[in-house]
This record gives sequence, structure tokens and C-alpha cells, in this order.
Amino acid sequence: MHSARPIAAETETKTGEMYKIRFNFEQPGVEPVTLTNIEAGYSLLEVALKNDIELHHNCGGVCACSTCHLYVEKGGDFLEELSDREEDFIDRAVNPKLNSRLGCQCLLQEGNGEIEVTLPDQTQFLGE
Ligand code: FES
Repeated sequence: MHSARPIAAETETKTGEMYKIRFNFEQPGVEPVTLTNIEAGYSLLEVALKNDIELHHNCGGVCACSTCHLYVEKGGDFLEELSDREEDFIDRAVNPKLNSRLGCQCLLQEGNGEIEVTLPDQTQFLGE
């Protein structure tokens, strides 16, 4: 008996699942940044930090603060759904809106498309 099945196995191969993400900033004078070829499986917080985009994350990304608060303008369906816990923390964020999310909880789902978010002015958290 020998298993001669050369091809077929790798059905999990990902093909072209990449996102384009535009970050807008409420902070005056900060220009929008558009990132391409972003893979699924990362949170918007991780994507921001990896690309030198400042986004506070006081709890370290475990949905226990609200400093990674952002607004999802487009492509919300590509993100992991809002949980009750996340909603609780959004209520404590500065100026929450209907499209508010916590960046650390916005995990990119498998797929591809365009996402656009706006980050609140990060200087408001520094207190100086
Ligand atoms: S970093 Fe604390 S809730 Fe996202």
C-alpha cells in the first residue's frame, strides 16, 4: 500500500486575500495613510502599530480599555463582529458614534476589499 496522491492536499492555500486599508486622522495636519496588501488575521490595532500609525492601546489589546477607539467608515463587514464587552468599552470612549469600534477587536476576516477608518486625535490621551 502506498499513498500516491501527489497534488490535492493544500486546499487551505490562501489566494489573493488582501485588504486595502485607509487610515484618516482627526488630528489636524495629519495626512491620511493608505496601506495595501494587508493580510487577514490581524486586528486594525496591529496593522496600525506595524505601520507606525499611532493608536493608543493602554490595555495591550485585550478589550479592557477604550483607548484604541476608532471609527469604521467603510468595510465594517470585513471585521470581526462587535461583542457586548466591546460595546461596553466603546460607551466609555471619548465621543462614541454608531460606527465606533475598538481597534484591537477589529480582526480582519478572510476575504479582500477596502476598509476605511478614522482615528480620533491621539494627542487627547497624552494630557499634555
Ligand atoms: S487596546 Fe484596550 S481595548 Fe483595545
